[in-house]
Amino acid sequence: MPPAIKAPPEALYSRFGASRATRQGDWNLLWPNAGSSELYNLATDQSETKDHANAEPDRVRDPTAAFVASSTQTVPPKWQTLRLGSAQKSSVEKNEMTTVTHLECSITGERYEAGVIQNLSTAGWPLLVRYDLAKARDNWNRDWLANGPRSMWRYAPVLPVSKAASIVSLGEGWSPLLKLKRTGAHFGTKDLWLKDEGINPTGSFKARGLSCAISMCVELGIKKVAIPSAGNAASALAAYAAAAGLEAHIFMPQDVPQSNFIECKSFGANVTLVDGLISDCAKIVASRKDEEGWFDVSTLKEPYRIEGKKTMAYELVEQMQWRVPDVIFYPTGGGVGIIGMWKAFAEIKNSAGSGRSGRR
Ligand SMILES: Cc1ncc(COP(=O)(O)O)c(C=O)c1O
Repeated sequence: MPPAIKAPPEALYSRFGASRATRQGDWNLLWPNAGSSELYNLATDQSETKDHANAEPDRVRDPTAAFVASSTQTVPPKWQTLRLGSAQKSSVEKNEMTTVTHLECSITGERYEAGVIQNLSTAGWPLLVRYDLAKARDNWNRDWLANGPRSMWRYAPVLPVSKAASIVSLGEGWSPLLKLKRTGAHFGTKDLWLKDEGINPTGSFKARGLSCAISMCVELGIKKVAIPSAGNAASALAAYAAAAGLEAHIFMPQDVPQSNFIECKSFGANVTLVDGLISDCAKIVASRKDEEGWFDVSTLKEPYRIEGKKTMAYELVEQMQWRVPDVIFYPTGGGVGIIGMWKAFAEIKNSAGSGRSGRR
């Protein structure tokens, strides 16, 4: 059991230039699985914030999952030290890790250039990143993946970042797949699994999307980012922007969980608590972004968070030894994750029939 947490004093909030944000009772519900007392220190001691940001999460929860057990620690994507084949080596050396070809309007199909700053299509719809899947399949195969980084960046060929140096990674992804024996038995199945996304940096799968989006900001020379958020996306943005040295502007409803508020401030983000809903926060970002020079990383307003989140599906298939589950129960809100999963399954399916012969 984590230690019981006392609500922090009002002074803590005024120190961060804000008034107390959440209802009294919420405080004990925060971060039930993490050392929440550490969170309290996090807010009162800036130096501990840095340690927390760089801390390696415990990756292994289920020793029975042999294919997960090999990933005992998080390693940054050191591509040069991997055992790569000649085609892969040459791709990395030429800064061609990605097989991205272009971006495409998700509704009209209109083509857009990759490698330049893009938000929505001219018709106002989200843009999807497209890849040369045959090339990805020819250059990077399952055997290579076994030696890949133990993070979502193992799928770099189907991610938009072209230069290894642009990657901003805090160890996101490659989360364990845990067998739920007792819950499975309760529902009459021996095959019920949980993908534990709570171990990601800042405690949610938002880390995947923001790792990818901030990496693309680095690659495209973007210096300021803004997001409206109900909590988890804000924490992830703050962490990755801090790691990349970017200026982060966060707009959250004033009743956001205190943990997210403290986390964002601790990572040095500019946080505005809004007396309203997340949609009101989104309106503020939309109205100020041009004047302020912010890159808008709101849900479905840029192409790259989908790409980071889609790695959940690639991972799932790899961890299930290249089989696809019969059914997935998936929590969705804004829709970035579920669209990412759908896109990844389509990519996996489309690449399965292309490329050279042999097992890929
Ligand atoms: C824990 C958690 N699950 C699910 C969601 C929904 O995410 P998405 O926007 O990808 O649908 C969010 C955030 O909105 C979240 O924080």
